[in-house]
Amino acid sequence: MQALIARSLKYTDNQLWVLDQYLLPHEQQWLLCESVEQMQSYIVSLKVRGAPLIGLAAALLVAHLALQAQSKAQLAQAIDDLEATRPTAVNLMHCMAKMRAALAHDDHVNQLVKTAEQLFFEDVALCEQMATLGAQLVSVGDNILTHCNTGALATAGIGTALGVIYKAHQTLADIHVWVDETRPLLQGGRLTAFELSQWQVPYTLICDNMAASLMAAKQVDKIFIGADRIAANGDFANKVGTYNLAVLAKHHGIPFYVVAPETTLDSACPNGDAIPIEQRNPQEVTGVSGSFGQCQWAPDNARVYNPAFDVTPAALVTGWVLNSGIYTPEQVQNGVFK
Ligand code: MRU
Repeated sequence: MQALIARSLKYTDNQLWVLDQYLLPHEQQWLLCESVEQMQSYIVSLKVRGAPLIGLAAALLVAHLALQAQSKAQLAQAIDDLEATRPTAVNLMHCMAKMRAALAHDDHVNQLVKTAEQLFFEDVALCEQMATLGAQLVSVGDNILTHCNTGALATAGIGTALGVIYKAHQTLADIHVWVDETRPLLQGGRLTAFELSQWQVPYTLICDNMAASLMAAKQVDKIFIGADRIAANGDFANKVGTYNLAVLAKHHGIPFYVVAPETTLDSACPNGDAIPIEQRNPQEVTGVSGSFGQCQWAPDNARVYNPAFDVTPAALVTGWVLNSGIYTPEQVQNGVFK
């Protein structure tokens, strides 16, 4: 396989490496990935995370295992096991479906390698297209609010919603970003803040519960958000807390945009109710852990509710920025995603 290098994923000298996103930004540690079990644990523990990235990482691992002469049966099992790691982001299912189709060919090793490479380069191009389109929605001086991490760390390219912000910053003066810290796993406070500071985009970090008062004070002009799965009616799942922002945006009359590649679209999924939502470990809510250490503040026996994602109804969305265009509520109601 040719060398493939992204911000948090690389295939070089016949080895697959992932950047441990759980330890960022204070520790930058690349982890070698040589087995399905390793990749499953990296994905489940969010060392590898972000809708496009988990699909690409899984695809590259399957191609790597094919080059290591694993049997067709082993590879089929690897695809099934990797696909089952996280249920919500449809990009993983999309990538695994492509790899399954490649496996069916007689020259399956070549086909798997070619498919994994194509998926990787396709994602780079999709990010670029979304960013170019989405940046047209940004005006000079905008204060943009975003949630979770949707940047280069989460994709093979420059990102989805954060890619739009980056592109707007490159082409317009005076962009400022409000970064939701994104409890419980702090993808905003750890990863988005890290990426924006590296890109020298002015930002201010806020706790998630500060967004409402900022909107009331007219300090938020637009919201750009990623997605893990967009249903045929335009409802979408994204990091938990996105729905709160959409309701607040509607109340305050603030434009609310979803940015995602076509690989996040699930036309077979009729609406948000049909999107499976991952439930996660209670310890993520009873405390925090990471490169900064570990602490628990809740009582040992605290009952916890910890969905990784929530669903935002299409009625709260101003526009869907896909690589193929910016879609309006009217177009979505008329079935453009079906
Ligand atoms: O649990 P995570 O960190 O994988 O969740 C990521 C998100 O919710 C992102 O907003 C989404 O994957 C879009 S990323 C380009």
